[in-house]
Amino acid sequence: MPKYIAAIDQGTSSTRFMLFDHDGQIIAVDQKEHQQHYPQSGWVEHDPMEIWIRTQEVIFNTLQKSGIHPSDIAALGITNQRETTVIWDKTTGQPLHPAIVWQDTRTDAICHDLARESGQDRLREKTGLPLATYFSGPKIKWMVENNPRIRDAIKNGLALAGTIDSWLIWNLTGGKNGGLHITDGSNASRTLLMDLQKRQWDKELLDLLKIPESILPEIRPSSQVYGEARGILEGVPIASILGDQQAALFGQTCYKPGEAKNTYGTGCFMLMNTGQQPIASRNGLLSTFGYQLENQPAVYCLEGSIAISGALVQWLRDNLGIIQKSSEIEPLARSVEDNGGCYIVPAFSGLFAPYWRSDARGVIVGLTRFVNRGHIARAALEATAYQTREVLDAMRSDSGIDLQNLKVDGGMVVNDLLMQFQADILDVPVIRPRVSETTSLGAAYAAGLAVGFWKSLDELRSKWTPDRTWSPSMPTDRRDQLFRGWKKAITRSFDWTT
Ligand code: G3P
Repeated sequence: MPKYIAAIDQGTSSTRFMLFDHDGQIIAVDQKEHQQHYPQSGWVEHDPMEIWIRTQEVIFNTLQKSGIHPSDIAALGITNQRETTVIWDKTTGQPLHPAIVWQDTRTDAICHDLARESGQDRLREKTGLPLATYFSGPKIKWMVENNPRIRDAIKNGLALAGTIDSWLIWNLTGGKNGGLHITDGSNASRTLLMDLQKRQWDKELLDLLKIPESILPEIRPSSQVYGEARGILEGVPIASILGDQQAALFGQTCYKPGEAKNTYGTGCFMLMNTGQQPIASRNGLLSTFGYQLENQPAVYCLEGSIAISGALVQWLRDNLGIIQKSSEIEPLARSVEDNGGCYIVPAFSGLFAPYWRSDARGVIVGLTRFVNRGHIARAALEATAYQTREVLDAMRSDSGIDLQNLKVDGGMVVNDLLMQFQADILDVPVIRPRVSETTSLGAAYAAGLAVGFWKSLDELRSKWTPDRTWSPSMPTDRRDQLFRGWKKAITRSFDWTT
């Protein structure tokens, strides 16, 4: 009997391959970064071929290191950065354009045009989403309008489009020799092309964006055996697809309405399970697809998406050189008592939830001669916590649920200063589970359920164990004062693109 479940986590900055045992413990892992391309201000691209190559490398390295053979793996789950869009030629297997990344703002004019009639929330009822550069549909429209090779390939029936899950699965299952062209609702619901209730591509939306349905993948449940891998993982059943934030929700075992998690990665994403019906947001959140197990009803979520969180630390490292390694941010931030009156609003891709303002740009405010590198480092960490507070406030208003604690995961949860400040600014305890790689774990759980490796959601829930809790300890008037400063700083980021 195969003893392990594998997961590919293809994220914005890097790709990981992980093997989990039956207890949900990590047995082996490998990770590789890929290049970020910024060809113009506001544009962000990835090379889909590089992503496919890195994926095969991390699989190869993990198998090598662990001595584990594909026949020891019961199933493979796929989780991915969402919205990032690829169009490729199904006969050559070559991408027809660089992947346009979720943070890219080049579709601003398209979104504005579409919003001219009935406003930014014109498609909210059907899709759960505002019209924003974040989502895939306008990215496909942009590529079709701007790339004649793509238009030709569509005319000749050769083009396939999809998010990174579709690109990887097509390649993993044989590529031009019969690869599967599929996705799941957690990815499809981020395109502005899917009817959220029906979980199908919507003709009216496709016509509006002038996208032919023939280039889109088939929407399948998030947990199901879709087919077998070829090549490096020969014979391993591919059995789950989940966008990375929904995978983290699944890995944090938020299976009941009202349960929520917050993942601190390149961006920061809070998702709350709202059960079998999407809840319409009146406070700038997204109504989105959570997950769907085979032969079960779909589960929906409210989501607060924050575009820049860990990416701000990378920017301090790569663009300003204030730190050499990301891990240096915490000691530097600890070298000062507080933010010294300084706030950073990292609106590099405009502002996402709850503002959805593409005209916003990053600002650093409150500078005096007193402010030093330490204050800047602190303000950078605090920016994530304030943005999370805004999302949590919106979630409370939309759902009427007062969260008793916040389950956290992702790369930044090793940062003790940030986690304590997060608890303080939310006035809610923050809990980190023992396995904080919940994105990969969630994809593995969903794949394991599909092949009977795990039997039930209750079994998975019993594996969740807390590692550390941060309790709020900040006096109320201090919390209010700091948050008022943030609210003022946010307004200074508006109206920069006109
Ligand atoms: O929606 C974008 C999100 O899926 C990216 O996640 O972890 O790569 O920042 P991450």
